[in-house]
Amino acid sequence: MDKKYFVTTPIYYVNDVPHIGHAYTTLAADIIARYQRLILGEENVFYLTGTDEHGQKIAESAKKAGQTPKEFADSVSPAFKKAWDSLNIKPDFFIRTTDPNHEKVASELLQKIYDSGYIYEGEYEGLYCVGCEKFLTESDLIDGKCPLHPNAEPEYQKEKNYFLKLKELSKIVLSKIESDEYQILPEGRKKEIVSRLREGVEDISISRAGVSWGIPVPWDNTQTIYVWVEALMNYYSASQFVENKKEFWPADLHLLAKDILWFHSVIWQALLIAAGLPLPKTIFAHGFFTLNGQKISKSLGNTIAPKEFVERYGVDGARYLLISAVAFGNDGDVNLSELDKKYNADLANGLGNLVARVAKLCENENLNGQKISQDFYDDVVISFDNFRPDLALSNIWEKISVADQIISQEKPWEIEDKNDLKEKLERYVTNILVVAYNLKPFLPETSDKILKQFSAEKIKSDKPLFPRLK
Ligand code: MSP
Repeated sequence: MDKKYFVTTPIYYVNDVPHIGHAYTTLAADIIARYQRLILGEENVFYLTGTDEHGQKIAESAKKAGQTPKEFADSVSPAFKKAWDSLNIKPDFFIRTTDPNHEKVASELLQKIYDSGYIYEGEYEGLYCVGCEKFLTESDLIDGKCPLHPNAEPEYQKEKNYFLKLKELSKIVLSKIESDEYQILPEGRKKEIVSRLREGVEDISISRAGVSWGIPVPWDNTQTIYVWVEALMNYYSASQFVENKKEFWPADLHLLAKDILWFHSVIWQALLIAAGLPLPKTIFAHGFFTLNGQKISKSLGNTIAPKEFVERYGVDGARYLLISAVAFGNDGDVNLSELDKKYNADLANGLGNLVARVAKLCENENLNGQKISQDFYDDVVISFDNFRPDLALSNIWEKISVADQIISQEKPWEIEDKNDLKEKLERYVTNILVVAYNLKPFLPETSDKILKQFSAEKIKSDKPLFPRLK
């Protein structure tokens, strides 16, 4: 298969509820998937997301909730699905790591790595952060605590574990990064990974003796597979067990935030190399964003459900505000009080006004609609090629503002010559149809409405696309 596109998001932990941090990555992947579907055809794109359901953290949350881990996961996982649905995010498959199909492929994959000699038995002695589901080294600690979970005491562990020969594999990983066999983006983050690899990496434990909520190690059922290792395998397992998706491996794009880039760009690649599988083409880590200057977290009580955004701004309004909130790749802050202003300026006034103005003029002149041309602007294509959906969106907004300026200059409402007026209006309609087509990946409903309105037999004015917020 030469023309296919496989894009993934992280699979989210079910101990949290979906918030706009998760929504950000999932929406970006949706926009990229929708764009690729238009370029390559629906059947040539595979967009995968899902939930991460095993491990100590989930087991502990379930216990607190008085449920078995599986009951707990069953009760939370659908909330993610629902949240994506409310934002009109359409993955081709939603994977859950408790799916027996995933368990089977993950187990076979680990066995393969074991058989190729990259796993050995050893003893792990050290600290573990349950919040991160991560073994901690001395250099990770700040005042003896995990910097991301300063209120929790890291757990001391001494147990028999299986280890991956990461020290050896990381040399191959480094050479593959340096020879661009797969790319890590943005460039700055790649540099960080490369310099960490050059400093040298130790072998890592890939199993847990004391955690029963997980997939058993295939050759030793007293141990379970370390949750991160098994979670990373979801990308491969889905491609193997979802119908007709085998050809989609390797993934074209793993999308995630910088917090989990090491796992994706080093550990996942080491596992794939050890298993003799092809590596994904691109790993893109966007930044982290804060809300009104604060970290988004359940314990701070400032998580915003995607639904709240949709209720205020509509589905496409929410999509617009989320993806344009920060430069894709950078950290940033979302200031809630700015969002209403932005909605009014860009959507109610900008796009909404342009469409309403032109539709009204066309209706008055009894103008016919036009055929839809299916072309992306050159700069939009370039922005997508550079994994910058946010830039692609601002490229489109530049066209909207140019269209607005032209209308203001030409003042069609003052033109008396009917032929001249008709010629101008037709030009506006052509432009609006191209704008609307380019908006398809971003604002699917709005785009469809505009395309329909301006390709109809007779163009009619309609309700405002984005009612103004007071
Ligand atoms: N379960 C692991 C991932 C396993 S992937 C094989 C995990 N889950 S998570 O629920 O914590 O999700 C982390 C991801 O959520 C980030 O990498 C990012 O994609 C998204 N985000 C969560 N909060 C975010 C922000 N505040 N800002 C940007 N992205 C955010 O890690």
